Amino acid sequence: TAAGPLAGCHVVITAGPTREAIDPVRYLSNHSSGKMGFALAEAARDQGARVTLISGPVTLATPAGIHRVNVISAMEMLEAVNATLADCDIFIGCAAVADYRLEEVAEHKLKKVPGSTALTLNLIENPDIIAAVTHREQPPFTVGFAAETRELARHAHDKLVRKRLDLIVANDVATPGLGFGADDNAAVLYHLAASGSEAAVTSHTLSPRAKRALAQALLDYMLP
Ligand code: C5P
Repeated sequence: TAAGPLAGCHVVITAGPTREAIDPVRYLSNHSSGKMGFALAEAARDQGARVTLISGPVTLATPAGIHRVNVISAMEMLEAVNATLADCDIFIGCAAVADYRLEEVAEHKLKKVPGSTALTLNLIENPDIIAAVTHREQPPFTVGFAAETRELARHAHDKLVRKRLDLIVANDVATPGLGFGADDNAAVLYHLAASGSEAAVTSHTLSPRAKRALAQALLDYMLP
């Protein structure tokens, strides 16, 4: 059996983007590479954890010793997450889940309508996967991510409270060379202060470094 501070711990991580089908050949998605989630999976494994990595479509190889579940859409990701939660100790939602999906996926390829210059797609909201995790009766220790282009602290604090997270990792995605798709990342961690008051938040800054090193630093901060 594995040794390390996370020995005996089941860590579930979501990673990558989701794809929301428009028709049989098209989809809505985003630029998430999955690198941060995969780096976290490796770091947790190296601390002795049993790791389940639920990944959207990415081009990364599965790290050794990690149980990977591939999904495409947000609805599939939610189902995969629900199937692993029974014995989950730590949940890390690193996936860039599409906020909306098509209300109706076209059965056949959509054709251009001659003479028409606009197309309207009807979208409906996807479930918030991480909020579904934290709203269970006995939630695991839950870590969320927040990619923001402005007002990092305010948005992170808002998500920390609204999604009932134990910790949020906020990334400023407006910084060139960091975050989405890049190999390096920086973050500010936020969690409620020891008082538990929603008004008192503790923050901790992690300077720019390789995502694998950032993942390690994040786990070090979380571990007693
Ligand atoms: O609200 P926002 O998408 O910025 O929140 C980001 C956090 O919420 C991330 O941890 C992400 O994985 C999670 N999330 C989720 N399901 C969604 C949307 C976001 O789990 N539908």
